[in-house]
This record gives sequence, C-alpha cells and structure tokens, in this order.
Amino acid sequence: MKTIIEPFRIKAVEPIRMTHLGERRQILARAHYNLFAIRSRDVMIDLLTDSGVAAMSGDQWAAIMRGDESYAGSPSFTRFEAAVKALMPFKHVIPTHQGRAAEAILFSLLGGAGRIIPSNTHFDTTRGNIEATGAEALDLPCSENGDPNSLALFKGDMDIERLKSLLEREGARVPCVMLTITNNAGGGQPASLANIRAVAELAHAFGKPFIIDGCRFAENAWFIKVRERGQSERSIPDIVRDVFACADGMTMSAKKDAFANIGGWLALNDDALAAEARTRLILTEGFPTYGGLAGRDLDAIAQGLAEIVDEDYLRYRVRVNEYVTERLASAGVPVVRPAGGHAVFLDAGRLLPHIPPLEYPGQALAVALYETGGVRGCEIGSVMFGRRPDGSEAPAAMELVRLAMPRRVYTQSHADYLIEVILAVHAERERLRGFRIVEQPLRLRHFTAKFEPLS
Ligand code: F0G
Repeated sequence: MKTIIEPFRIKAVEPIRMTHLGERRQILARAHYNLFAIRSRDVMIDLLTDSGVAAMSGDQWAAIMRGDESYAGSPSFTRFEAAVKALMPFKHVIPTHQGRAAEAILFSLLGGAGRIIPSNTHFDTTRGNIEATGAEALDLPCSENGDPNSLALFKGDMDIERLKSLLEREGARVPCVMLTITNNAGGGQPASLANIRAVAELAHAFGKPFIIDGCRFAENAWFIKVRERGQSERSIPDIVRDVFACADGMTMSAKKDAFANIGGWLALNDDALAAEARTRLILTEGFPTYGGLAGRDLDAIAQGLAEIVDEDYLRYRVRVNEYVTERLASAGVPVVRPAGGHAVFLDAGRLLPHIPPLEYPGQALAVALYETGGVRGCEIGSVMFGRRPDGSEAPAAMELVRLAMPRRVYTQSHADYLIEVILAVHAERERLRGFRIVEQPLRLRHFTAKFEPLS
C-alpha cells in the first residue's frame, strides 16, 4: 500500500477549539503580531515547535508511575543512564532540565571571550549560550544548505574545507567543534555519516573535542539509513551508535527525539570536564542523579528512547513532511526541499519577494497562516537571526517559516488542512505586507518582540 498510516491508535484526546477569521485578527493585534504571545487555546494546528509537545505512549505513562523521586541514587536515573548509553556510548551522562541547560553548562566551561565555536548551524539557544560567554558562534554549513532548490540528500553537512581552514588559521581560539543533527536552523536537513566522521577526524587531528547536538538523532539516523550508500541494511540503533562513537560529547534536548515533554542531558567522555560540569550542574540544575528533572521524567525519557528508534515510526514521521512538501511544491509554493526531518520549511523570501528581508517576509507569512487558518508556525529568518550582539541589524541567510510537526500528535486530515491553508495564503500572497519591530530585547528577540504591520 502507498498510504503510510499513523503507526499508533489514539487512547486519549485533546479538543481543538475552532476559531474564525475575525476572532483571529483580534487575537493577532492583541499579541502585537508575535505568535509566541498567542494562547495555545486560540491555535487550531500548533506547529510552533516539535519540542516538548509529543504525545507520550501508554508505556511512557506507565513508566512515569514507576518514577522514583529519591534525591540521590534513584533507580529512575539508572534506567535513564542505561537507555542513553545503549544508544550513545559516552562515559558520563549528566541529566539537565532541557537542552539549553546542557549548552549553558558546556559553554560556561568551553566558551569565553575570544573563542570561536564552529558548527554546521548553531540553533538559536546554542548561539545565545555561546555568545553569552563572549565567544563567537560560527556557522559553516555546506554550500548546498543555502540553496532551497538543491535536492542534495545531506544538506545538513558541515563544510569540511572551511572547517579545515578555520582550524589552520584560528585553531588556538577553537575549544571544540560542534555539529547539529539534524540541522534544525538549516532546514531540518540531515548530516551524513561520512560527513560526521570527517568532521570528527578533522577535529581530532587538531586536538579538539567533537560535540554533537543530538536533538533529532533518530531522524538523522533514518535519513542515513535510507539515503547513504551501504547503510540501508543496518538497524537504526547501530547507525546511532556509530554516529556518537565519533564524538567526545553531546548535548541533547529530550523534548525532541526522546518523546518527552521535558528533559535533556550533557554527555562527555573526558573525566575532568565531566567533573567540572557536574559541579556546575549542582549549582544550577540539581544533584547529578536527577539534574533539573523529576525521577518520573527520567523514566519517560528512558522509555521514549526505546520507542524513537522504531522504523515504522520513523518512516511515518519523515513521510508526513515529504507528503506536505510534495503537495506544496507541485502547486508552486516555494518550499525547502528535500523535506526536513521534523518540519516543513516554507521559503518566505521567494514566496514574498516584494517584502525586503528587514521588513520580515517570514513574519508576514507566519502571521498570514495564523490569520487564514489558525495555524501557528515559526519565523526562522531575519527576526530570529537578524540582530547582532552589538544591536545592529543584518538580513539572515534565508527567510523561512518553519512548520514543526509535534511527534504522534496530528493526523493525515490535519496535514491536508494545513496544505489547504498554505495554498489559500499563497493565492493571496501579493496582498501581504511586511512588519516593523516596535519593541525588542537585545538577544533572542523573536520570543518577545512586538510588531506593527506596515501599510
Ligand atoms: N539544539 C537544537 C538543534 C534545538 O532544536 C533545540 C531546541 C535546542 C538545542 C535546545 O533545546 O529547547 O530543550 O532547551 N529547539 C526547539 C525548537 C526549541 O523549537 O526547535 P531545549
């Protein structure tokens, strides 16, 4: 059969409140056109993020009841640690309340003024945590990454030549090399096993630790299995273990590929660095056998890790985004191809060429999707990345709108509705206008900025 069905049945449901156009216009104005300021009950299809919004399985809810809330030495930690190490063979696994806490701890140790931390593309919290220490977060994506028309299979790869020349020129300033899999800010595109190995080899040749941001490791492994030569017969856990065996550490948000609503970890092989990280952890998160989490959260993560590597799930997961992307592309909507692992990325720059980057075409498109159909997506463009640490503005590399798919939450009819909403906005695209920012903080402005529509 060609139809790929959701590989699950639904046991508990959450109602979606139906809203109408006039109501949504008022809601937008009250939110100052920032979709982060809208209440979730006012959203019909919420694609703001795939983070922390997964539907947990019956087995995860059962695991939650097993959670042991002891301050030290909880068996929930033992189960969590074993589940992580079964896939990611690091010596030290340090739980944190979410991914950015792991980043904050890592960069408090490795960052600092004058340092440079390269990656394929840093996610915004990673960038924020690096810059907060005074270091520079440097993106070195492969050249295909910036081309939304390129159908290259591993657009999440890092540019090995540019990494090499950075290490040759500025090696003394580079404390570690990072790689984000999949490359979220670069379109949810995967990195190949060959590229991951090449980055690791280069980092090690220059004596630098190699750290993977592994948020969507299972999706990345699925892409390696189906797209990379010689990998198709291998199991997902085998591929995952190969990926992490190259690295000296990882940061992780369990809110992505662990099916958890909260959680994360920092894993390291270096004993001395891990000891320092645990000291920081105790100061900012909690004792090393719970990090910032409840014991029950650790159990939900342990069970989620066992479920996320299921091939039926991963095939369905990736297929949903391909389906939406194919339908949009065939209707002439500019969309990043191939489809990303966790999201569909609309190319607002090409969809709205009459809106200049610093009038935020991505914001205009995201607002129009909400107004037209109650769909909430997220601008990933000059609002998110256009402000430099010194306060000046420059256009981002791409103007995208990310429609991130929560795991196991929406169904095929939701996908069809989403396509219909996007096509309706596309048909009216010439009427859309840009925005002006009227209030904003210095960093991570997309969360709280206030906008005004330009007439
Ligand atoms: N790294 C990547 C690649 C991410 O996508 C995220 C979060 C983080 C780190 C931080 O993890 O949220 O647990 O602190 N991404 C979410 C998103 C927020 O919507 O893409 P966190």
